[in-house]
Amino acid sequence: MKLSSFMHFAAFGVKTILFQRKDPILGTVIVTDKCNLKCKHCSVNNITGVVHPYKQIQNEMRQLYDMGVRILFFCGGETFLWKDGERTLRDLVLEAKEMGFLIVNVVTNGTFPIDLPEADLILLSLDGDRERHNAIRGDTYDTIMKNIENAASDNICLYMAINQINKNAIRDVCVAARDTKNVRAVSFNFHTPYPDTRELALSKAEKTECCNMISKMMNEGAPVFNLRSAFPYLINNTFPTPCCQCVVIENGKISTCGRCIEVPGLCKECGYFFVAEYTLLFRGNPKIMIEMLKTYLKYI
Ligand SMILES: C[S@@+](CC[C@H](N)C(=O)[O-])C[C@H]1O[C@@H](n2cnc3c(N)ncnc32)[C@H](O)[C@@H]1O
Ligand code: SF4
Ligand code: SF4
Repeated sequence: MKLSSFMHFAAFGVKTILFQRKDPILGTVIVTDKCNLKCKHCSVNNITGVVHPYKQIQNEMRQLYDMGVRILFFCGGETFLWKDGERTLRDLVLEAKEMGFLIVNVVTNGTFPIDLPEADLILLSLDGDRERHNAIRGDTYDTIMKNIENAASDNICLYMAINQINKNAIRDVCVAARDTKNVRAVSFNFHTPYPDTRELALSKAEKTECCNMISKMMNEGAPVFNLRSAFPYLINNTFPTPCCQCVVIENGKISTCGRCIEVPGLCKECGYFFVAEYTLLFRGNPKIMIEMLKTYLKYI
């Protein structure tokens, strides 16, 4: 991370903590909800099937920038399905960088060739070893591993949503993160139980076991891009929600924290690690502050 970016984030953090400000710093643009997969745990694919036009996405990026957002995510649906004429996802990343976003990340299912060297991180969903990943995401594991191997850059961070199907495959994903070319780290979430996927949710005891396993893998040197000090809050769902410093924009509509904010009662069962990590940070939790500093400087 550039020193100037670090200084911007440090100043934002100090202002937010001292004055209990609610301005956003992290924003997500949903480029489409169209997807080539239909994963068992996902409730946000192919609802409209619309690929949003370039001009609209550009306006949304500008809107987020003007609100103060400096960490931008492109998400979907499947982000690599996005195009408008000759323009591709890579053009959106370049445009975001030119606009002045300090960190630009993309979330993808990894089933398309990966050519985004300008992104700071490509969060690539891998949900276990071949067997458990494919049980959730269809027969895609081998294609994804080949795409990672052939990627244009080494900015990939595996992204695993832990649920009832893959809760025993944490070690496999940590080992893949450590040993696979072009992969820098792995980041986890717990399944967030939307009404149509409640059966995949983990109990408190299961979340405890998962966190113990992630901790063990961290001790063994696995590159985990999460904060250990947030684990107790994630296990007990005692972190503050929603995250006021995060916003998402989809088809012109801005929501605080996530699209899921409109699902009644869901925030109380939120499994997104970034929500715990950011809300605890901006409440001034000293352990989280120190760990976040170390972790972000290591992986971005
Ligand atoms: C909605 S997908 C969109 C990007 C891309 N299609 C992908 O699969 O990475 C973004 C991330 O959300 C995760 N996800 C989907 N539903 C979830 C849920 N209910 N709880 C936690 N994570 C979920 C996916 O596993 C994926 O890592
Ligand atoms: S690939 Fe991503 S958007 Fe598509 S169904 Fe799976 S989790 Fe949902
Ligand atoms: S806190 Fe609520 S809005 Fe935010 S990600 Fe979790 S469930 Fe969604």
